[in-house]
Amino acid sequence: MISPTSFGYVADVLRRETAMLCEPGKEYLVEARLLPLARAAGCADVDTYVNERLRHDAAERAAAVDALTINETSWFRDLAPYQAFSDVILPSLLGARADRRHLDIWSAACSSGQEAYSIAMLLHEQLPAGWTARIHATDVSPSMLERVRTGRYSQVEMNRGMPANRLVRYFTKVGTEWEVDPALRAMITTEKVNLAAPFPGSLQYDFILVRNVLIYFDLDTKRDILRRFRARVANDGFLMLGATETTLDLDDAWVREPAGRAWVHRPRLGAAVSPRTSTTLTPTGA
Ligand SMILES: C[S@@+](CC[C@H](N)C(=O)[O-])C[C@H]1O[C@@H](n2cnc3c(N)ncnc32)[C@H](O)[C@@H]1O
Repeated sequence: MISPTSFGYVADVLRRETAMLCEPGKEYLVEARLLPLARAAGCADVDTYVNERLRHDAAERAAAVDALTINETSWFRDLAPYQAFSDVILPSLLGARADRRHLDIWSAACSSGQEAYSIAMLLHEQLPAGWTARIHATDVSPSMLERVRTGRYSQVEMNRGMPANRLVRYFTKVGTEWEVDPALRAMITTEKVNLAAPFPGSLQYDFILVRNVLIYFDLDTKRDILRRFRARVANDGFLMLGATETTLDLDDAWVREPAGRAWVHRPRLGAAVSPRTSTTLTPTGA
């Protein structure tokens, strides 16, 4: 098993590069994720790999960070956020953006893209004719972004939440994998974005999903990320966090509102900010 010194070094690198916490008790995870890299580098064990490669080679450290990210995801994960998108968020945005007939959506920390493509399917089905939408899918992991761009998924991945009717409608079998329809892929752009660093660009998004990633950060990092997202969501837009994540007690720039069985976060508008133009929330007391 990895030594405490090597584990401490890897945890420091991970924290510096992604802000992800890797606390004692996760030695087994680090060992399992780094062993294939150690073998590929010709090292007998993970300690040797850390001492002889990671400590001296920035490219190897980047590969190790990539391997250590936790990329758990699935199609239409938790269902309720996607129901909220169809029933509450999209109708609200269609009202608010009737003049420009375009939506900008950001799937931040998108992993292998199931979240972005799930939203793309809903938009494909529900966006009125003449409207366009762009989904910006970002992650700190280059290998995950490559998977989004490739748009190919194993049978095991498809079994995790993909309804049969959408499998038939949007995917083609290629060898042992399923390839997503180019029409969905065309809606998605990708970019490496580290949530712990300043965000690139200045676009304001109508809907931002940042789900199941804040859990990996410490309180100050969560606060800082939420504060920077506030500047990037339109005043009448929506932020969706993971089911166990909240802005409560972290950042009072957000109002937490029920949307069907999910919660959405909306910018809290100060006296000096122009009023929200459209709100069609239909809370059911989730
Ligand atoms: C558990 S997955 C969540 C995927 C998806 N949002 C979902 O809810 O199914 C967490 C993702 O966060 C990414 N991640 C971790 N630290 C990050 C950071 N500092 N900036 C951007 N993405 C990060 C990981 O690479 C991983 O793909």
